[in-house]
Amino acid sequence: MLVMQQDGDSDRINIAIDGPAGAGKSTVARKVAEQLDYIYIDTGAMYRAVTLSAQRAAIVPQDSEKLSALAKTLDIKLAPSESGQAVFLNGENVTNLIRSREVTLAVSHIAANETVRELLGKLQRQLAERKGVVMDGRDIGSHVLPNAELKIFLTASVQERALRRYKEVSETQSISLEQLEQEIAERDRLDEQRELSPLICAKDAIVLDSTSMSIDEVAAAIVKLSRTKLAEAK
Ligand code: DC
Repeated sequence: MLVMQQDGDSDRINIAIDGPAGAGKSTVARKVAEQLDYIYIDTGAMYRAVTLSAQRAAIVPQDSEKLSALAKTLDIKLAPSESGQAVFLNGENVTNLIRSREVTLAVSHIAANETVRELLGKLQRQLAERKGVVMDGRDIGSHVLPNAELKIFLTASVQERALRRYKEVSETQSISLEQLEQEIAERDRLDEQRELSPLICAKDAIVLDSTSMSIDEVAAAIVKLSRTKLAEAK
């Protein structure tokens, strides 16, 4: 697995952004990376790509042996694109396919597999080795990059997160706000309760509640914090 990466630079830090589904992590992380000229890495997209591949191979999450064997064969690449980040699975552009409802409903189950987590966690650590990375996920500050100089735990009420998702998908999918809220709450539950590196707020993370903040306000707050952390790290 590979991600295209820029040259290392000692004037950079790593930024981990964790939090529950729909808190705005990826949009915020992308903006922060743009403003700092850092690399944005969407770790959820990696778990989604593994999920798509498992579904195509008709492997269920409970079949952990088959799932582990499949994960070891996958070639997942992330590359910067105009709309953010493109995802390639064995050379195929799956950027849109990994956002399907089918993948979204299964991904938390696939993400509980030990081998999948080990493989993706190792890759994520390699990508952050040269610093200058904004990585979003569930376990980045707590598990993948425990030494990240800046850790953010981005949250928002479940109602607000469902409403945001509803506005995004209501034109293309027929799903009610109530159903979305239930599905998001269920994904939170699975991500928080899984045995391996569950969604938790790292003890040294800064909690930002985006319920009544705009994306730009959240991004600006993180950029400001990053400048302080960079000065401290020097
Ligand atoms: O951020 P997202 O909704 O695209 O993430 C999809 C799923 O992947 C999420 O429900 C849990 C899992 N995930 C994870 O377990 N660990 C991560 N670092 C990122 C995502």
